[in-house]
Amino acid sequence: MTTTTPGPSALRGAVGTAHTRIEGRDKVTGAARYAGEIPYPELAHGWLVLSTVARGRILDVETGPILAMPGVLTVLHHGNAPRLHTDYIGMLGVPPDPTSAVFQDDRVPFAGWPVALVVAETPEVAREAAEALVVTYEREPHDTELVAGHPGAYAADGHMPAETEKGDLEARLADSAFVVDEEYTTPEEQHSMMEPHAATARWDGGRLEVVDSNQGAGWVQSELATMFSLDASAVRVRSEHIGGGFGSKGLRAHQVSAVMAATALQRPVRVVLTRRQTFSLGGYRSPTAQRVRLGADPDGRLLALEHRSLNQTSTVYEFVEPSAGVARVMYDAEAHRTANHVVRLDVPSPTWMRAPGEAPGSFAVEVALDELAARAGLDPIDLRLRNEPEVGPVSGLPFSSRNLAACLHEGARRFGWADRDPRPGVRRDGRWLLGTGTAAASFGAGAAPSTALVTAEADGSFTVRITAADIGTGARTALTLIAADALETTPDRVRVRIGDSDFGPAMIAGGSMGTRSWAWAVTAAAADLRERLAMTTGIPPEGITVRSDTTEALGALAQKERHSYGAQFAEVAVDTATGEIRVRRMLGIFAAGRIVNPLTARNQLVGGMTWGISMALHEEAVRDRNTGGHYAPDLAGYHVATHADVPDIEADWVDDHDPDDPVGIKGVGEIGIVGAAAAVANAVHHATGVRHRHLPIRPDRVVAAAGSAGGAVDA
Ligand code: MOS
Repeated sequence: MTTTTPGPSALRGAVGTAHTRIEGRDKVTGAARYAGEIPYPELAHGWLVLSTVARGRILDVETGPILAMPGVLTVLHHGNAPRLHTDYIGMLGVPPDPTSAVFQDDRVPFAGWPVALVVAETPEVAREAAEALVVTYEREPHDTELVAGHPGAYAADGHMPAETEKGDLEARLADSAFVVDEEYTTPEEQHSMMEPHAATARWDGGRLEVVDSNQGAGWVQSELATMFSLDASAVRVRSEHIGGGFGSKGLRAHQVSAVMAATALQRPVRVVLTRRQTFSLGGYRSPTAQRVRLGADPDGRLLALEHRSLNQTSTVYEFVEPSAGVARVMYDAEAHRTANHVVRLDVPSPTWMRAPGEAPGSFAVEVALDELAARAGLDPIDLRLRNEPEVGPVSGLPFSSRNLAACLHEGARRFGWADRDPRPGVRRDGRWLLGTGTAAASFGAGAAPSTALVTAEADGSFTVRITAADIGTGARTALTLIAADALETTPDRVRVRIGDSDFGPAMIAGGSMGTRSWAWAVTAAAADLRERLAMTTGIPPEGITVRSDTTEALGALAQKERHSYGAQFAEVAVDTATGEIRVRRMLGIFAAGRIVNPLTARNQLVGGMTWGISMALHEEAVRDRNTGGHYAPDLAGYHVATHADVPDIEADWVDDHDPDDPVGIKGVGEIGIVGAAAAVANAVHHATGVRHRHLPIRPDRVVAAAGSAGGAVDA
């Protein structure tokens, strides 16, 4: 599987060749250590105490009895914690979430808010003491329920404009031969990464070192330095192996509280979040309430398109789930209107979660398109092909490359779409009704400034150092292949070191932009190094090191619509008596730029599609409106698709090459989930004739819908 033979294979190139994970053996043998597993002498353990009320004030933290417990070292809370600097915009262009800037005041904005950290000699004592700590609150009434039309909703710009509008929507709707006007909802969803957040902080000769599990060591380092008013060079963050992130692993309460405690005690302190704590402290995907209005001419060409989305955020932080962004990229119409609104509730702050915006937004738009196809008597794929835009529907910019049609054609061919009977509710297999569905997908393809260090070692090998993060994606392996090609050598002669903020600023593992951003920096440094080597006769013992910075090259890129695309296909079996839905097969065909490592890229895409099944059928974090907290916040109460839920999933790609990227990369991190839930929901409609517009499509919803009529109804 690995390309390790020196010689001819170097000429073939490593990029595009399947390569097993560089750290795979370390992971399966246990040699790879995760942030919560690294031993330190004198290590103390912190345990966070979270609020039990959803809104109010802390009246008292009874530390006395806790401090008297054997093994307890300290209790940090708003009454004794150091003041943090929180008035800044961080590296990703957003201010810090006060949920992470812990213990700054007595206010409680949601259930599960960090109110104290108990530090003890062992995790067991810390936990027992944390559970024994009595905190008294003054309670205030709370509102934790997102409903369409909530009076507190407002237009929030976030990273993009809240609203866009062109043309006369009402007039074009009135002109339309076919109209869809429906509301769609998606529930609160949790990241559910395998490894919960963990960090160890310690002072080492005047320098703060944090060993953490995050998506960007440089990101967390810069946030901690700013918050604690430290010189950036006085903080080092390392994050070598990460058991999943999906958007949740940035600056969180665990790192900040660990740094506070390590500073107070002058000992290494580790803070690990429990699974339950991640439900309120790790961020989540906000529920959405969306409305889509479509109007089409007799040929199915869109005359009017409106996509509005409402998400919730906390009272302490504004996070926009930009679901309406989907319509801005995918479909044009003479009259076109989009809006992202938010409402502040007494709930934890949501955050980025795999395909933020696109995942819930594509559910609404791609189901609405399926509804339009049914009303217009058109094949859903034909309808999409007829509505391929020439330029960005809102921006008017050209597309760098748009291979959606190729994905739809190739997917339809491989899935056997041509044989599909378009009538819903007519295929049976025993107790099962069978149906197939499709949906289109897109996700932004960007790159962000990064630096890399590449060293030619005296022994003829190379070392790459970059503050990249491998959150389970295979980034370390992908960068090894990229560096090998750029250095015109073989992967076995390249050592890639990542996850250390000392390697310099670089993009985080996020926005599907990691590999492309890092590859650009590595390629640039490698090219410089090769020039240097051509003029050198010998390599000194310390090697020759070249540093790159892609800020300027990226700044010179022309403004274009840059995206990956995909076509999702699903076949489902539905038993309307029991409400069971089984996905029988799924196919995703993507145009996601040049694929660096087919093995790990396929893994990423299949992972995203699996999550799409999970989103369509299972996932739902339910909040109790009386307490403002979750019911069963754990992986028993919150069901993520397991092996039994997941059929054969096939992910593949068409030739695609970003014309403006030195390696041709776009990114595969998020596109796999986009449209996947819509494809499943559309298949459920095809199977049963019932349209489900509220996720997840639970058994009770299937049964209730089937009970309400025998023919085509809406659920
Ligand atoms: Mo991702 S939601 O950009 O980690």
